Amino acid sequence: MNITYITGSPKKKGSTSRFLLEALDQKIAAEHQAFWADSAFDSPDSIYDFMRQSDAVVIAFPLYVDSIPSHLIRLMEQLEPMLKDQRGITLYVIVNCGFYEAEQNHIAIDMMKCWCKQTGLIWGQAVAVGAGGMAQAAPVGTGPSTNLGKAFDKLVLNIEKLDSRETLDITPNFPRFLYKTMAQIGWNTEGKKNGLRRKDLKIRRDLQ
Ligand SMILES: Cc1cc2nc3c(=O)[nH]c(=O)nc-3n(C[C@H](O)[C@H](O)[C@H](O)COP(=O)(O)O)c2cc1C
Repeated sequence: MNITYITGSPKKKGSTSRFLLEALDQKIAAEHQAFWADSAFDSPDSIYDFMRQSDAVVIAFPLYVDSIPSHLIRLMEQLEPMLKDQRGITLYVIVNCGFYEAEQNHIAIDMMKCWCKQTGLIWGQAVAVGAGGMAQAAPVGTGPSTNLGKAFDKLVLNIEKLDSRETLDITPNFPRFLYKTMAQIGWNTEGKKNGLRRKDLKIRRDLQ
């Protein structure tokens, strides 16, 4: 079977989405052929060319403002007319977010299901990953990423059979309060590097 992996993060380096796709691919049997595409840097034509030759497509992206990053929405809109006459491609999705709770990703997953209806892609399955900032802290399947490893084992089985299944919600094997504390320290450090004081990070602007 042919599989297209699409990275949905705009980051050039260090993206969690790309990391998750590579970890998933490690678990996929070597007999399957993989095509790799980048939503921010590859043309819609070249991505479509991979997709039309594939049985399964896996898109991994970060949650942006409870939704899909805008560059990826644009790509999806561009692919829509091209995919209209394609049949038999199953879509799998991995969404990761900064919040600890995986459920934050559900609206974006529903949007991807709508896209399947628009394009004729078959809905496969989604993995919703909470605390995405931690996903690269350990190899998938170990330590804080133990739950993630188990979910990927299930996802791989479903991809290889082109099965459709319910969303898998994944939180790390790590306490929520510690994750929040670490995130807080991270924000303060980043703020300082950019010339901001702690209280500057709390400023709320009136958007009227
Ligand atoms: C512009 C922007 C908007 C974001 N919006 C959300 C959000 O609404 N909810 C959330 O939990 N995380 C949000 N995040 C955090 C990212 O989803 C998180 O950092 C993710 O791990 C990044 O994945 P990537 O490395 O693949 O880009 C946002 C990040 C950015 C840069």
